[in-house]
Amino acid sequence: MDVVVVGTGYVGLVAACCLANSGHRVVAVEKDRVKLAALEQGRVPFYEEGLDELLQNALAQGKISFISSLSNALQDAEVVLLAVGTPSLPDGRVDLSQVYAAVQEIVQHARRETIIVMKSTVPPGTGRTLSKRFLAHCHVPIHYVSNPEFLREGKAVWDWYHPDRIVVGCGDETVVQQVLELYADIDAPKVVMDVTSAEMVKYASNAFLATKISFINEIANLCELVGADIDKVAPAVGMDQRIGPHFLQSGLGYGGSCFPKDTKGLDYVSSFNGYRFSLLKSVIEVNARQRIIAVRKLQEKLGDLHGKNIAVLGLAFKPGTDDVREAPALDIIKYLVDEGVVVAATDPLAIENARSHLPSCVKLSPDPYEALVGAQAFLLATEWPQLVALDWEKVKNLMREPYLVVDGRNALDVRRLVDLGYRYCGFGRPGNF
Ligand code: UGA
Repeated sequence: MDVVVVGTGYVGLVAACCLANSGHRVVAVEKDRVKLAALEQGRVPFYEEGLDELLQNALAQGKISFISSLSNALQDAEVVLLAVGTPSLPDGRVDLSQVYAAVQEIVQHARRETIIVMKSTVPPGTGRTLSKRFLAHCHVPIHYVSNPEFLREGKAVWDWYHPDRIVVGCGDETVVQQVLELYADIDAPKVVMDVTSAEMVKYASNAFLATKISFINEIANLCELVGADIDKVAPAVGMDQRIGPHFLQSGLGYGGSCFPKDTKGLDYVSSFNGYRFSLLKSVIEVNARQRIIAVRKLQEKLGDLHGKNIAVLGLAFKPGTDDVREAPALDIIKYLVDEGVVVAATDPLAIENARSHLPSCVKLSPDPYEALVGAQAFLLATEWPQLVALDWEKVKNLMREPYLVVDGRNALDVRRLVDLGYRYCGFGRPGNF
């Protein structure tokens, strides 16, 4: 099919490259000229496993091209995938200005019957509003389909080819079949429903996963108070097939560009519709509190934090990405700097992205051992395998007393660290401090 993809962020570029590798002819629209030039040369402007190869392959096959103007891209388009940003506004509302701008441009410049496939995460009801406000007034037929994505950053290419389900929200059976042609080579259940329900599936999925994380974090906090061990509790709870083993990892909580934005966005939609979504409000509150608990743990064990040296290991919101959006490490570092801590931080990939979000006094080093020199404590904020597997004997020789470890991801080997003489403190795990 002839496909236009608007936006070349994590979602748009993965979709564009995967569709091109499946044989579709893809034109991807990117307004930023610097990014456009990089993409044309086969360089992905962010880190995503496997995406470079897919891009280079699609370019070599002549299946993908890049353009800066959406209206010029529309010439042959049968399907236009929208993957533009929908960031949070300060009140939690979703900023739909980029969506509106793209839809208006399509309505003005479409030259043939076109299907708009919404990949950006938009609040339930958006498709209905767009149809009423813009699409009804076009000179050619424009169909609207909600087709939410469930891609994880760092695993997005794998997730594209191995989805748990493909959700298509559209009331027109012919259009549904055309959209499903995009996924002809993918073996997954196809779930068809109305537009608003499909929009809700996306929010409900992310909100539910966020709920699991906040729930297990509350259980972990309670484990500390009653003397239970979350490492024993969470896996046994997850063995119940109705609950499942995933998203039961306790620690600093969720970050990233999706869960924080989507939980707040759904809370806003609830309030706007006159409904108080109490559970979701608690999920958001618990998640914010985990970051403060990390600082409190450091304070409880080290006393007055002023002038103390603390290393933060990991800046990305999770391993496998250079993305620092809403990363717990960034908030925690700011709290520590406010308390007068001398902070050094490291990350295998995310230092450049983190730099502009951090106070200039924070020493950033790609070498974890360098970041740990002279530290009285360190906080593991992102469970990168290479950070979890540091040479802990060597680290001990670089650090100073009391050799405090705050394991913000419950990822380190407690026994080994304790045997080496560290003071260990996790989240719901028995420590030795
Ligand atoms: C998430 C969803 O998993 C995807 O299905 C969805 O498509 C995507 O958002 C989106 O809406 O675009 P992502 O943000 O890439 O994907 O990251 P996750 O792997 O879900 O992790 C999110 C956060 O939760 C991370 O900060 C991670 O450290 C944290 N987490 C995850 C926990 O604290 N505990 C867990 O048990 C699992």
